Amino acid sequence: MKPFPFGRLWLSPMESVSDLGFRSLCYQHGASLTFTEMIRGSALVQGNKATVSLVDSYIPSIKTGIQFLVSKKETLQKALAMIDAGIQKKDGRFSNLSVIDLNFGCPSPEIINIGQGPALLKRTMKMKELLTTLRNASPLPCGIKIRLGLNEFEKQQKIYLRVIEIANDVGLDYVTVHAKTAADASTMPLDEKALQEIVAKARIPIVGNGLIVDGPTAKRMLDFGCSAVMLARAAVGNPWIFEKIDSYLKTGKLYTEKRTATEYQEAWGTYAAIAKTYGTKKKFYDYHHWMFGLRMQGDKGYHSPSRILETG
Ligand SMILES: Cc1cc2nc3c(=O)[nH]c(=O)nc-3n(C[C@H](O)[C@H](O)[C@H](O)COP(=O)(O)O)c2cc1C
Repeated sequence: MKPFPFGRLWLSPMESVSDLGFRSLCYQHGASLTFTEMIRGSALVQGNKATVSLVDSYIPSIKTGIQFLVSKKETLQKALAMIDAGIQKKDGRFSNLSVIDLNFGCPSPEIINIGQGPALLKRTMKMKELLTTLRNASPLPCGIKIRLGLNEFEKQQKIYLRVIEIANDVGLDYVTVHAKTAADASTMPLDEKALQEIVAKARIPIVGNGLIVDGPTAKRMLDFGCSAVMLARAAVGNPWIFEKIDSYLKTGKLYTEKRTATEYQEAWGTYAAIAKTYGTKKKFYDYHHWMFGLRMQGDKGYHSPSRILETG
């Protein structure tokens, strides 16, 4: 297996969450790789301004992957060429990217109904075409994020193993696995048996995702043979989770953190300063403002950005 250069604590791509300020905070607190939110490939290559502004790899020290939602080979080729051009021009926006990722996991009906995301997993020829294009035309290390299938039927057919075979053959740098189907609720347990099957079949690194909330849940994934773990909801309003998990992985000891109001204020201040310097969308700014405010009041729960999007 190729060496795995991106560390073992990754921040997930999250729509309306993963802007530069939030990624920076997570990176400062131990995330080894972070991702932009899912970027629609077709809107990007058409030069849609709102979409282009989601690409924000302005700070070179922060390891950032870009995630695309794409279903056509030609669109993928154009999007990869845009990244390549940005890298050549050292444009800041694209030029500090480290990784290119394709999303085959988004469970949103809006995505599935147009045949994108996890709806593509069962289409072996299509997957081969997209993953080969990604591998051959990507100027950067590249991988994919998958679920086990669209639904229970596809999972029973083990379509995920066909995807892993393609990823092996093509030689992707990693596959991130959220070991559920797209029909499963976000609170449903992972299918650990399927994840273990995948790890056994893979000749490339597997990144485990889903329901990682602390050191022991991260260690469990790594013990299954995953090369890294990817966290989403547990990092929202809590960028310190990465150093906490790292400490557990190194020492085997759990500690209870008592964050002070000052620490939350400082984290918010860092976020807001980056947002001011480099710009961000209102949806990101309002969401993090709300979440750090809730955390400061002692709220430890996860709250989706949908409320901000509805009211903002
Ligand atoms: C608000 C939110 C936005 C998300 N947006 C994306 C996205 O853009 N791309 C993606 O691949 N997954 C996205 N996801 C899914 C997460 O990356 C992750 O797979 C899922 O939340 C499971 O991880 P967790 O249990 O650590 O939250 C999103 C999840 C949340 C909560």
